[in-house]
Amino acid sequence: MAIPSDFELIKNIVEGLDYHRLIKKSVIVLEKPFGFDYKSAKKLNNFLLNFFPEKMIYRIDHYLAKDLVQDILALRFANPIFVPIWNNKYIQDITINIWEKGGIRNRGQYYEGSGVIKDMIQNHALQLLALTLMERPKSLSYNDIDLAKTNIFKKIKLYDCGRRAPVAIGQYEGYRQEKYVDPKSLVETFVSMVLEVDDDNWRGVPIHIVSGKKMAKKTTDIIVNFKNIEHCFWNQDRCQIKNNQIRINIQPHNDIHLQLNSEFDPVSKCAIPTVLRFGFEDNKFILKDSYENALQDLFCQDRFTCTNSSEILLAWRLIDRIMKLLELNRKEKLFIYNAKNLVKILEKESCLVKKE
Ligand code: BG6
Repeated sequence: MAIPSDFELIKNIVEGLDYHRLIKKSVIVLEKPFGFDYKSAKKLNNFLLNFFPEKMIYRIDHYLAKDLVQDILALRFANPIFVPIWNNKYIQDITINIWEKGGIRNRGQYYEGSGVIKDMIQNHALQLLALTLMERPKSLSYNDIDLAKTNIFKKIKLYDCGRRAPVAIGQYEGYRQEKYVDPKSLVETFVSMVLEVDDDNWRGVPIHIVSGKKMAKKTTDIIVNFKNIEHCFWNQDRCQIKNNQIRINIQPHNDIHLQLNSEFDPVSKCAIPTVLRFGFEDNKFILKDSYENALQDLFCQDRFTCTNSSEILLAWRLIDRIMKLLELNRKEKLFIYNAKNLVKILEKESCLVKKE
């Protein structure tokens, strides 16, 4: 069901299917949004469970069907060089960017009831976060991966940014003139938030999520910055040793960049960074569209592109808390931006921003 998250509509359809005896042995596939807050998601879930067993409910997230997102599993769990350093002892910070160049197009009606936090963070961004930080699942079965992701969802909280707020919101110039949008709308089309996973592996690592419409470019990536070596030979000011970095470019480019300090310059005596690029577009694998992957998985009853009810409910619980925080003086908090002035605004507004 790629339909609005309207309880009555879904109820009518499911009861109709039941009336015509079409439910037995069927799988129900639901596209996001699954509810619009914790309470509505729970109500929808309980309703569906009256008709379908959990294993027949596919709550699909098309970001999980993107090739490079699925590759996170291989990168993290098939490479012993990364396994021991994937924690707060070695990782300094993580950034997840989901930027879109376009606006809301003609989806004003939907977007006015949603905003970027519910549209992109509750589902896509938190799924990327969970896959990046989860512990090694017992196996690659849907249940084990879900269990590992759920364990992360249980521990996500807002990062302590001191005097700055951990969440900054904005609205693009011209949003209020879009079709079906309230001319006084306070709905956010941009968010920058800093989260933390509160456990021994990750405490202290800020996870910066940035997502918005009408940004300078369309890009989705995950950037993992490693801490610098403690007793380094090189004077940081003179040589500017760069952090080791892994950058997973999910779209529009499908590749992984690994930044190392690999060259020794005999003149300056500095270590010079090099970026290794692992590309996927130019090799023999043909990349598929995410919906192509999702549909293929569904027909094979592979649930990797799906999320279970506990993940969804835990994500909504976090989003409800954030929305409540934002409701206090939303008008003052919401800045108006365009792709050019955004960085400048964020330098003032956001808890942790890297200029790049
Ligand atoms: C959808 C959102 O889930 O994802 C849209 O509702 C958004 O607002 C879209 O534009 C982005 O998907 P993709 O695959 O183009 O990054």
